[in-house]
Amino acid sequence: MAPISEERKAKRKARRRVKRREVAVEREMQLQAELENAQAKLAEKEKELEDSRLAIMLKEREIDNMRFTLAIQPFMPKLPKIDLTDLADPANGQSCLGEGSFGKVYLKRLRSANNSYVAVKEVAPTSAARSGLRMEATLQARVCHKPWFPYVFGVNLDVAAPILVQEFISCKAGSVSAVTLLAALNDQALLLLKTYQFVWILVEVAKGLAYLHAARILHNDLKTDNVMVGRVGKDGIRAKIIDFGSACLLDRPSSFTMSGTMSSHIAPEVARGGKTSCYSDVFSYGKLTEDVEKAVRTGHLQTIITACVHCPLAENRPSMDNVVKMLETACHH
Ligand SMILES: Nc1ncnc2c1ncn2[C@@H]1O[C@H](COP(=O)(O)OP(=O)(O)OP(=O)(O)O)[C@@H](O)[C@H]1O
Ligand SMILES: [Mg+2]
Repeated sequence: MAPISEERKAKRKARRRVKRREVAVEREMQLQAELENAQAKLAEKEKELEDSRLAIMLKEREIDNMRFTLAIQPFMPKLPKIDLTDLADPANGQSCLGEGSFGKVYLKRLRSANNSYVAVKEVAPTSAARSGLRMEATLQARVCHKPWFPYVFGVNLDVAAPILVQEFISCKAGSVSAVTLLAALNDQALLLLKTYQFVWILVEVAKGLAYLHAARILHNDLKTDNVMVGRVGKDGIRAKIIDFGSACLLDRPSSFTMSGTMSSHIAPEVARGGKTSCYSDVFSYGKLTEDVEKAVRTGHLQTIITACVHCPLAENRPSMDNVVKMLETACHH
């Protein structure tokens, strides 16, 4: 056999080198795919872990709230229990006034209160919703004798779907319609309010919130759809703060774990996971004032909006007592 020429040897060597490189590239691709696979699995597991951590945190908070509600019960005014038979539908059948994240609000009549109209908030039959409603009713009942809040007639927490029975805030005496500040701003033909009457509503809301803070309660969800407005007599106006569903005691501030879109009336420090405070309520009040100013252009509210909303440090926002004073000054212009 003829000896293999140097050239053929070199070619064979080169082929072997190419083959080795191909195998190495293939192996590398395989390893890369395995790595990506493992990374995806890890990310999935991390997400599961994060979800369980969040679920545990929510459960802990729920238990903590229940414990707290039970602990403060003896020191709170006893809420009257409303028997379901005491409630009747209005003449033209059942009517739903609103539907929120926690349940529905119905217009009913309360037989034992002169058959007056009441707004009945009904929540889901879960233990969390029940203890939430107990807290809501307890806090609202503490201040409901004041003109800035609907009166609380009582609750029934022992039924499948627990209820809170409160005064119905109509848009005028004897009417079965209710109007939120949001609706009154969006459709100004509804109540035909004059600009100064909108400012008057802002004064009332500010006084209500100042009273709430003095009673050591935070509202935590002040916005135009949580204020009911109406006419009283010829020129009188009333404004009431509703929805104590997120309220808490000043000494036990809340934080919210809502992910994704946090509504714009929530103070930035709370949206970042911080605790609520009088300052965060003041921020929400500023946002509400901004909504009014945008819709009716009074030209006198910018100082208040700037102080409440655009102050970089929460602690530098004015107190609600000061906001009331600032409004009174603005009204004199
Ligand atoms: N006392 C009341 N008088 C008249 N209408 C009321 C009264 N309370 C509530 N409503 C109506 O029902 C709606 C929902 O009430 P509320 O805000 O208390 O419930 P919610 O479930 O907490 O709602 P959300 O989570 O959307 O804020 C209000 O926006 C209002 O239209
Ligand atoms: Mg509401």
